[in-house]
Amino acid sequence: MKITSEELRKKWIEFFKARGHAPISSASLIPENDPTVLFTTAGMHPLVPYLLGQPHPAGKRLCDAQKCVRTGDIDEVGDAAHCTFFEMLGNWSLGDYFKNEMVPWSYEFLTKELGLSSDRLAVTVFMGDDDCPRDDETAALWEKCGIKKENIFYLGKKHNWWGPAGQTGPCGPDTEMFFDTGKPKCSAECSPACDCGKYVEVWNDVFMQFNKNADGSFSPLCQKNVDTGMGLERALMNMQGLSSVYETDVFLPIVKKIEELSGKSSSDAQAVKAIRVVADHIRTATFIIGDERGVTPSNVDQGYILRRLLRRAIRFGSTIGLKFGDYSAVAETVVDKYAEVYPELAVSRAKIKSEIDEEQARFERTLENGIKEFEKLCKFLQTDTIPGKSAFRLYDTYGFPLEMTVEMAKERGFKVDVDGFDAKFKEHREKSHAGAEQRFKGGLADTGELTARLHTATHLMHRALKDVLNDPNVNQRGSNITPERLRFDFSFGRAMTPEEVKAVEDKVNAAIQADVPVTCEEMTVEDAKAQGAVGLFASKYGEMVKVYTMGEYSKEICGGPHAARTSELGHFRIVKEQSSSAGVRRIKAVLE
Ligand code: SER
Repeated sequence: MKITSEELRKKWIEFFKARGHAPISSASLIPENDPTVLFTTAGMHPLVPYLLGQPHPAGKRLCDAQKCVRTGDIDEVGDAAHCTFFEMLGNWSLGDYFKNEMVPWSYEFLTKELGLSSDRLAVTVFMGDDDCPRDDETAALWEKCGIKKENIFYLGKKHNWWGPAGQTGPCGPDTEMFFDTGKPKCSAECSPACDCGKYVEVWNDVFMQFNKNADGSFSPLCQKNVDTGMGLERALMNMQGLSSVYETDVFLPIVKKIEELSGKSSSDAQAVKAIRVVADHIRTATFIIGDERGVTPSNVDQGYILRRLLRRAIRFGSTIGLKFGDYSAVAETVVDKYAEVYPELAVSRAKIKSEIDEEQARFERTLENGIKEFEKLCKFLQTDTIPGKSAFRLYDTYGFPLEMTVEMAKERGFKVDVDGFDAKFKEHREKSHAGAEQRFKGGLADTGELTARLHTATHLMHRALKDVLNDPNVNQRGSNITPERLRFDFSFGRAMTPEEVKAVEDKVNAAIQADVPVTCEEMTVEDAKAQGAVGLFASKYGEMVKVYTMGEYSKEICGGPHAARTSELGHFRIVKEQSSSAGVRRIKAVLE
């Protein structure tokens, strides 16, 4: 069946909506609650608290398309199916239905909605071990649906166990569904566990009934969940009968743009890998910068991954003649393709472009010297291994991401002491963290608490601005909070007078002194609007939002976090009121 990405997302949501699921929006790519990983890696990841038992405001049956980033396989990018960014279609039962419903629904979706023939489907189920018994129940359900016995395979933990997403958390046995390409079996033992290409995975249903603890043991969860995930790009590739994800409709305009800019074609065997690497990495970078909690290139954490992606794209892109500004032009094509589904990308269009251009400029400034340094290093090397110290110097001084050094070394028959690099990297990170802690030592709180207080102060100020300026057009246009200050942009046609600035400060300080509690309620956007809450109403599908109330002083939709009582805020002072752009004013304020 020829199905586009838009149609597949829609079919998915409609199918599960008709079975009592609430559609939810994709969460941020930057996990809010899990310090053990840098990016959201699966649809279930943002739902961990709910899989562990906390009630979800949208109910017990959920479905979505979630943005995910996995960079573990970055070296594989360029082959037919590896992507560093992908969308995962998912549905969940939070302690509600279980196998009896999920297996027949999966069968129905694959055969009726996607039109796959039952004979072309193969499934795997968990073979059982000391932690969990063999899943005969699921196998029987598949058989009842119509899957032939010879197409049901029992496999062990390596293949039929999913999770946790981080180091600890919910996990369990799963059943995976595969499309049989019709190729002959590569051997008598050929099964979906085999990577000969006969079977391609389309969907994974996890029966999540355990929590993996820090000591490696498993304990039963208080509720039995279902967590399923279908990778959108790979599903499209299979459905559209294509041999790579880059030919699917999500990648096609991006690949075309790269072909246009480089003058090279992806049917050229010399150019295809570079085209794919640029397409994949720039798509991922666009989503990371344009995320609602987006980051910019740096030398630590998510910023470093982003830097690696951009620099790797630039290195490959230079082999097909891409020039300055070409990568940001590719990013614009990504924004255009996805803006309707992920409106945050359109909001950050200008930022995405300038961050990519700036990173390219920074990289190109040091690249030439770095390559000279690298050549010198190789020339004088006594062994076949580049020491970790030297790889770190290339990283630290010339901005060479590690795997770039590794790849360049490989091209010349050298290895790199990766462990040595890691040790140096860790040392550097600890130093920079110690620096950050130092900066806040004098304060009374950690950075999280400081920003939470400034968030709360922003709500009070927003309300005070509306009251003091008494203009219905006064509305938030932007907000940026660091541990030191808040910055707030709002629509208003002229400069504020010193009296107005003072009146806003006084109102905020009065609310702080009133020591009212900050309460949070979850409700639908419609209810929030009806109660007079202010905020951005750009959410999808009648979604649930958090509304923060501070007595009579403020009611606003916000993701949090916030102080518990207004008195925690101290004293509020506006440091600057200035023009931001036509019709938009900018305030910077601090808590003292
Ligand atoms: N968490 C499972 C996966 O990533 C199913 O959503 O495959």
